[in-house]
Amino acid sequence: MSAESPKNGSKAPEKDLLSYRSEFPILDRTTYLISNSLGAMPRGVYDALKGYADTWATRGVRSWQERWWMLAAEVGDEIGLLMNAPKDSVSTHQNVTTCQQVVASCFDFSGKRNKIVYDDLNFPSVMYFWEAQQRNGARVHMVKTDDGIHVPTERLLDAIDETTLLVPISHVIFRSSYINGANAIIEKAHKVGALVVLDTFQSLGTVPVDVQALNVDFTCGGVLKWLCGGPGVAYLYVRPDLAKKLEPKFTGWFAHADSMAFAVGPTTYADTAYRFMNGTTHIPALEACRPGLKILNEVGIERIREKSKRQVAYLISLADKHGWRVNTPRDPEKRGGTVSIDMPDSYEVSQELLKREILIDWRPKAGVRFAPHFYNTDQEIETAINAVEEILSERSVLAK
Ligand SMILES: Cc1ncc(COP(=O)(O)O)c(C=O)c1O
Repeated sequence: MSAESPKNGSKAPEKDLLSYRSEFPILDRTTYLISNSLGAMPRGVYDALKGYADTWATRGVRSWQERWWMLAAEVGDEIGLLMNAPKDSVSTHQNVTTCQQVVASCFDFSGKRNKIVYDDLNFPSVMYFWEAQQRNGARVHMVKTDDGIHVPTERLLDAIDETTLLVPISHVIFRSSYINGANAIIEKAHKVGALVVLDTFQSLGTVPVDVQALNVDFTCGGVLKWLCGGPGVAYLYVRPDLAKKLEPKFTGWFAHADSMAFAVGPTTYADTAYRFMNGTTHIPALEACRPGLKILNEVGIERIREKSKRQVAYLISLADKHGWRVNTPRDPEKRGGTVSIDMPDSYEVSQELLKREILIDWRPKAGVRFAPHFYNTDQEIETAINAVEEILSERSVLAK
């Protein structure tokens, strides 16, 4: 196996991708192929969390003024860099579901424009949230998949009409890794006066995302998967010209233009990304996500995508060789960083792989999900596939 080296002309630093392996302790102990679920922890997180405890222990309440108050803004900008978001356009939240609530709270569902369009491959938490908004007057139109891998873009475009308010969809589908036709969806939405909430949880960090080129209205996702940032931090980008016009009803003192005035009565919204925030921020999680964001910003998404495309193709070729069903698109331009393989007895196989320290996961209607990241070797992919082969042959011997 040869180490990857950046191509000539790459804007990313020259450091070899595999040399980052030493930054991730779990790579020494396991075959870690599950970055679509939880990215490997950078060893810098130990220091980041110790720094948090030291700050709290030594600076006490002064920590707010000296570091903590603006931490969400700094982290928002570090995430923003990865998706070409302008400075101060990204707020941070606890999870994507909360981001949906912040967005929903900017709108009124009592008028004619109250339709919410998405597809049934959306992440379930997002669907549960919007289904529940029907009690507030929202009308949900869910476009169905035929194959469980993708929903034809045309079908989504047809559903977006003059009564559509919001289109909350995944950029990359969690189950199949299909890349939705975000450009066409955003264009159609804007043509009829609707807004798109693009969930980039499964794209940012492995597939390029450029919020300005997309001209997307809202973008949200979390940092715990491809961004190696751990649980507790999600991000919400709002298009700056739109942000000024929005007044979230889910709000609080962090969103006030002058929080420290402790003014009584209705709020005055901040002109910054904090406009979309509410109460006291999640400081430990914000501290913990920074080492991952630093590494991702240093490595650069283009190099990650280039390597991911090659390793995903390699995984698919190995699955094909064994005749296992691949529930991920065949077109490399239409798939993200995960390969879902539904081999026989895939759930039992997944449990056995975990026992052998080969970390993957299993999802209904998908199979075993393998998600190599910039720190994985080709050897690790071979180890995982060889193990599947071995488990299946052991099972067939037992069955005889
Ligand atoms: C596309 C997508 N959206 C959202 C989520 C999670 O949402 P939340 O941050 O609300 O837990 C996931 C996975 O965990 C996901 O894959």
